Amino acid sequence: MRIDLQFKGRHVIVFGGTTGINFGIADAFARQGADVSVVSRRRENVDNAVAALTGHGHRVAGFCADVRDFEAVGQAMAEAVAKFGAVDVMVSGAAGNFFAQARHMSANGFKAVVDIDLLGTFHVMRQAYEHLRKPGASVINITAPQSTIPMRYQSHACAAKAGVDQLTRVLALEWGLDGIRINAISPGPIDGTEGVRRLMAQSDEELAQATSMVPLKRLGTLDDIANLTLFLASPYASYISGAVIPCDGGGALESVKPVLEATGRLAEAQARKV
Ligand code: HXC
Ligand code: NAP
Repeated sequence: MRIDLQFKGRHVIVFGGTTGINFGIADAFARQGADVSVVSRRRENVDNAVAALTGHGHRVAGFCADVRDFEAVGQAMAEAVAKFGAVDVMVSGAAGNFFAQARHMSANGFKAVVDIDLLGTFHVMRQAYEHLRKPGASVINITAPQSTIPMRYQSHACAAKAGVDQLTRVLALEWGLDGIRINAISPGPIDGTEGVRRLMAQSDEELAQATSMVPLKRLGTLDDIANLTLFLASPYASYISGAVIPCDGGGALESVKPVLEATGRLAEAQARKV
């Protein structure tokens, strides 16, 4: 059975949409016929993403902006809207991360991650508000298991992503009055991404260990997250708002913490270099 998710000709904008999980999301919407805008810092990433997203008979545009820069986010948003019109779906997924013990972390290191993950999410949502289709727009923030599970050497990301969860809930209350739905997705370990390659498992052994800790006994794929995003943005989810939904093979139930503990050796090694 083929279900029409009704994204043809809709404007979808993905912040941090040029690599990894967020690129997978942009690609899924492109394949559904949406007009897709992607935004990130580096011109090379933006150009590569636009080239890769082109070719499904829909329109694609890319913009450079650092989500820490409120004005630059507004500029990118305005340019995207000038091209493709009011925003039907906005995904906010830019993030930064590294392992460091809090006692060695510089104030600027903590601030860098909070600025990207939390302030960046606020900037993106705040600048989007006037451009979101009312009623009907769907906003999806990408959070992480760190938002609810304390993890060593992740004080910045744990604090920032907890803030992203609450921002999701509070703005769902406020913007629900305009008919805007706001939800968040919390991915588990997603195969081949920066989050897994650099932060969780640098060797085959660590990858196997991390995989064995997931109840479904596999890492997630880009499609796993993209499929949930498509569903949440579609009319099939029209009564879902303010939800923070794990997409993690069951990891949030019991196993994410052991996964993170298992990779503690890596974290410890990295933290010592600081
Ligand atoms: C300690 C570090 C550090 C490290 C940077 N800093 N890396 N401190 N250990 N490994 C400190 C710097 O010394 C500096 O502080 C401050 O952080 C800012 O560093 P910059 O390099 O100037 O920052 P910037 O270029 O803005 O880069 C931001 C970044 C970087 C967060 C540091 O990693 C980044 O942009 N990453 C983007 C991609 C990414 O991380 N993706 C993965 C997302 S996965 P001082 O005091 O020296 O000025 C995810 C969830 C993963 O989020 C879940 C699975 C575990
Ligand atoms: P990734 O490939 O590093 O993607 C990050 C994206 O954000 C890139 O497009 C990057 O492009 C952009 N970006 C980074 N900092 C930015 C900034 N300051 N302003 C604008 N754009 C910025 O990461 P990923 O592993 O796929 O993770 C994507 C999302 O999923 C993140 O929110 C992360 O917290 C979450 N997550 C990932 C995992 C996982 O297994 N990977 C697990 C849980 C949660 P530029 O460098 O060009 O800016």
